[in-house]
Amino acid sequence: MEHFDRHIKIEYKGDADLVTIADRKSEALIRERIRALWPTHDVLGEEEGLRDTGSEYRWYVDPLDGTTNFAHGFPVFCVSIALQHREQVIAGLCFDPTRDELFAAEHDGGAFLNDQPIHVSKIDALKESLVGTGFPSHKRHKNPNIHFYHQITLRTHGVRRAGSAALDLCYVACGRLDGFWEFNLNPWDTAAGVLIAQEAGGRVTNFSGGQFELNSRETLASNGFLHEALLREFQEIFAGRGVEPLPDPREYAGKR
Ligand code: IPD
Ligand code: CA
Ligand code: CA
Repeated sequence: MEHFDRHIKIEYKGDADLVTIADRKSEALIRERIRALWPTHDVLGEEEGLRDTGSEYRWYVDPLDGTTNFAHGFPVFCVSIALQHREQVIAGLCFDPTRDELFAAEHDGGAFLNDQPIHVSKIDALKESLVGTGFPSHKRHKNPNIHFYHQITLRTHGVRRAGSAALDLCYVACGRLDGFWEFNLNPWDTAAGVLIAQEAGGRVTNFSGGQFELNSRETLASNGFLHEALLREFQEIFAGRGVEPLPDPREYAGKR
């Protein structure tokens, strides 16, 4: 937070892929603390990459999820940390310092927001739901999500694009959102949030309804009640069926 809202210097990892000193310092601090407590554990962090010594334990660290927001003073970002033992993510947390909200979950132990149990929403009709999505900051031109954004917007109360995938998943967990999807997320974006959403009673799969994998590049989360409906929409959109065409701006301009 020392670096927030102070016209922080932005560096570019790609066209629109930003990194700041806050990302780097946060990861360095988290790695130092993990090393001090569990020197044999492995760590995969967004900024420093993978430390792999063959440990059964691996930490996933997104030291700042929502860097673009952070760099512009838009107060939606968090720190996301998860711990995996063998194939199972056993603990996860996302901390939003602007709202002082700590989302946390342990495998089979439920999910919590500032120590209070949280649960997904009970909305069971897509047309009454609020959902979230995100757009990646690299290979943006290869991403078809604008079509999904358009179609799902027409079938729900709306689609939010808040800019922190980890928080989006936590918002599904506590019922602020009823669903969330994104293409091409990385394991550090999802490891904690997915566990938190699942432990709050939510369902997380790939876009075909198959098991969610940390490396699968497809994340579809919901309160469970909406999952089949969202999967059906995805199938339809991928197949180009029942798709409302995006209005042509030139035609629109002619009638302004
Ligand atoms: C990004 C955020 C954003 C999502 C992007 C991610 P970063 O993470 O989670 O919401 O849409 O795909 O890369 O780069 O701010 O850690
Ligand atoms: Ca991220
Ligand atoms: Ca990040």
